[in-house]
Amino acid sequence: MTKQILLNAFDMNTPSHQSNGLWRHPRDQRHRYTSMAYWQDLARTLERGLFDGIFLADVTGIYDVYGNSPDTALSNATQVPTNDPFAIVPVMAAVTEHLGFGVTGSIPYLHPYSFARLVTSLDHLTNGRIGWNVVTGYLNSAAKGVGQVQQTAHDARYDIADEFMEVVYKLWEGSWEDGAVVLDKAAGIYTDPARVHRVSHDGTYYALDAVHLCEPSPQRSPVIYQAGTSPKGQAFAAAHAECVFVANHNRGVVAEYVRSLRAQAVACGRAADDVKVLALLSVVTGESDAAARAKFEDYQSYGLRQGALALISGWTGVDMAKLDPDATIAEMDSDGIRSIASSLCARTVGEWADYLVVGGAAPTLVGSPVTVVDQIEQWVDDTGVDGFNLAYTVMPECMEEFVDLVVPEMQRRGIYKTRYAPGTMREKIFGQGPRLRAPHPAARWRLPTGDADQASAG
Ligand SMILES: Cc1cc2nc3c(=O)[nH]c(=O)nc-3n(C[C@H](O)[C@H](O)[C@H](O)COP(=O)(O)O)c2cc1C
Repeated sequence: MTKQILLNAFDMNTPSHQSNGLWRHPRDQRHRYTSMAYWQDLARTLERGLFDGIFLADVTGIYDVYGNSPDTALSNATQVPTNDPFAIVPVMAAVTEHLGFGVTGSIPYLHPYSFARLVTSLDHLTNGRIGWNVVTGYLNSAAKGVGQVQQTAHDARYDIADEFMEVVYKLWEGSWEDGAVVLDKAAGIYTDPARVHRVSHDGTYYALDAVHLCEPSPQRSPVIYQAGTSPKGQAFAAAHAECVFVANHNRGVVAEYVRSLRAQAVACGRAADDVKVLALLSVVTGESDAAARAKFEDYQSYGLRQGALALISGWTGVDMAKLDPDATIAEMDSDGIRSIASSLCARTVGEWADYLVVGGAAPTLVGSPVTVVDQIEQWVDDTGVDGFNLAYTVMPECMEEFVDLVVPEMQRRGIYKTRYAPGTMREKIFGQGPRLRAPHPAARWRLPTGDADQASAG
């Protein structure tokens, strides 16, 4: 393998993201997730390790499918309590210069007008380091939180998402011309009104007639992330996503997904390489294979299996409390995350509960840095992915060890950068301009004048 891999930390503003129960480990610090100091220390560690970004998952809603109750999730800290992911972005941005932020925003619980403003504000404050993970939700508890009886059906959620994208692209790309802010103190003109345009949209799900409230930020549209791999999810990703996050243990499945996604992107008029694919991965490392294995077993002893099943129940919409622990999770018609539902089929319910407590749904690599990097290379060779989202185990030690042990080994083999590239998040990942370019659908709304990047992009 020769290409350099992209790397994100996969995290969430909560005490326990994927590795259920490891908040109990004596060295774990996740209970500090409510403090700025915790996130700033983590951000510094990730930037020291030249991580491309921190990818912040977010779940609007509580995991109450298991046993038809939120009690297990609450007592095990299964992704609850959980604070807002956008709130910690400026906190981390303040102590870093290059680290990107891929932040999850769930369309059913947002309005494009206010969401566009939030993202532009953060793109300003981070100097162009914002990405948005576009999700469509999967928990009925979230829908109930905003007054609905239940969430909209799976495929219809993507139809709504398509229109949401059109509205936010119009606001980000088509409301303010470059140079609209003249800041002319002598004339008393801050913004030239002739260079600011109303956005009108009258669609099936959204109607809006408004000026975007923010002046243009470095990237305008954030780097678009997406993580759904159902047929509808893939079609959405092929049209919109710049980075796609895939979770599956089966390398053959991931390889086929990468191939199919790139082919669909090309069918949308984009280049195959316009979409980067990052796979979910977790790593437990140590000075030797034996030390890593001992650490893995130590971690496992702190896992909470019921909370892990509450997690799977929420992801799939199927109550695991009702299933025999020895039953294999059959191919299920999930109204939740179909890609996760189908990747669970190969193990029994009990095996998954054991598995999930260290590294969550990720394939977990256990070994010395040499062993781990051998497997990372194998993953890339077998699947064609561009990089990884690294799920944590015990924090912050797992990220510190990854930075201190695994990063140097990857650098030694030439598969990982030794310094950051300059520019915004998009420039760092794609080595091109800061803004989305045609034929991406966002570029359709770009204003024809005063736009140097568009001209150079053709
Ligand atoms: C690896 C992975 C991570 C995801 N992270 C989130 C998340 O943080 N928040 C969320 O609401 N949905 C998340 N999702 C769900 C999806 O992004 C998606 O919107 C939805 O569940 C439909 O996915 P599907 O097309 O695979 O069925 C994730 C899905 C995958 C596969």
